[in-house]
Amino acid sequence: MILTRAKNNTGPASVPTVLSSEVGLPSVPAKLRDAIAADPSHQQVQLISISSSEGVPVSAVIIGSRVTLPVAGQYEMYFIFPLDREQQTLQVVGRTFALGGIALVLLVGAVAFVVTRLVVDPVRRAALVAQRLSSGRLNERMRARGEDDIAKLGKSFNAMADSLQKQIRQLEDLSRVQQRFVSDVSHELRTPLTTIRLAGDLIHDSRGDFDPSVARSAELLHTEIDRFESLLTDLLEISRFDAGAAVLDLEATDLRHTTERAIQSVAALAALRGSRLEVIPTEGPCVAEIDPRRVERILRNLLVNAIEHGEGRPVTIRLGVNQNAVAVSVRDSGVGLRPGEAGLVFTRFWRADPARARTSGGTGLGLAISHDDARLHEGWLQAWGEPGVGSCFRLTLPRRTGVPIDRSPLPLTPDEERSATAQAQAAEYRPVSASGGAET
Ligand SMILES: Nc1ncnc2c1ncn2[C@@H]1O[C@H](COP(=O)(O)OP(=O)(O)O)[C@@H](O)[C@H]1O
Ligand SMILES: [Mg+2]
Repeated sequence: MILTRAKNNTGPASVPTVLSSEVGLPSVPAKLRDAIAADPSHQQVQLISISSSEGVPVSAVIIGSRVTLPVAGQYEMYFIFPLDREQQTLQVVGRTFALGGIALVLLVGAVAFVVTRLVVDPVRRAALVAQRLSSGRLNERMRARGEDDIAKLGKSFNAMADSLQKQIRQLEDLSRVQQRFVSDVSHELRTPLTTIRLAGDLIHDSRGDFDPSVARSAELLHTEIDRFESLLTDLLEISRFDAGAAVLDLEATDLRHTTERAIQSVAALAALRGSRLEVIPTEGPCVAEIDPRRVERILRNLLVNAIEHGEGRPVTIRLGVNQNAVAVSVRDSGVGLRPGEAGLVFTRFWRADPARARTSGGTGLGLAISHDDARLHEGWLQAWGEPGVGSCFRLTLPRRTGVPIDRSPLPLTPDEERSATAQAQAAEYRPVSASGGAET
């Protein structure tokens, strides 16, 4: 509290300034004093800054008023209320809020973490298990503990996997039984067929002694026994593929020689049908790691087909080689293939014209076996055809096992052939200008 004489009190009697604390008169702002002098009938209030006993600045409220002392006259009285306690309270409240906020953030983080672990982790594990299942590991199962939704999901998932596994096993067993059956039947038929073959040959040889109708039957018997034998051989081969028992007998081979042998083996048939076989070989060697026996069989199949469906027109055999692959294509100008048939020709027993095909040559398994042979080499066997224009069958094989083919060195369709020819012509032309450019 400060009691001091008003500025305009100039009377003779005076009371000395009274101070009730260490806060002195200089702390009272001049503005406040002026305000009291101007309006003595009202109290004036102002916020000031004083220094506390420790010398720290503290906000305070100062209230001033005019008082009239008997004898001494007009005086001013000031009350100063330091706000240090209120400030402390504010600080405590602020700190509490800050700590509370941090605690809340941590709590929310912890809850999020726990929820993630509870929900997302099982979902991730389920995805992993599903992935493994689809990659063929049929024994993979999810962990399913407890009674919550995730556990229910796990149980349903495992039930689904169980049922899938059971069905796949059944199908596998069934297909194994079927494979065995085909293989056993083919083997069992071999012995009686050998006897029939011997007897048939005997009858065929002495057909001159029979009357003409019996002789004709003897000839029919002979050709049918031939077909029967090749069908049986093909069936045995197919069942070997199905059982996964087919293995490659690889050796580095020049495809030119393999092709030559295949052409020689069908030369008689080609002459019979009047088809000319034209070979366009590679300039250099065409060596690859292949099973020559299987590749020769593929080529023989392609050539026989081209001759049989080629309507006596020339058949072109082309060889090609690039960095990773070797290829042979067999192109005829015969009946060709209708749209969609290029994908069907490799299907077992599929024939474009069943009635005609049963009387001529093959068993309907030739291209299926060839396709399996190509796949065993990790190679490609592809077909193109257009009705009335002809067909082209292209075999592409990797030069080294394990090195995949990126593209075939030979064209398959006439369009590809045209663009390949154009490129080759451009390549022939380029070196001349390139060397000319280098010299200048
Ligand atoms: N070069 C070709 N031109 C036209 N069609 C063909 C040609 N090669 C195969 N095909 C068709 O594909 C079918 C299946 O051929 P393939 O598996 O060799 O059996 P097959 O020769 O015993 O009939 C043939 O019946 C024929 O319809
Ligand atoms: Mg055939």
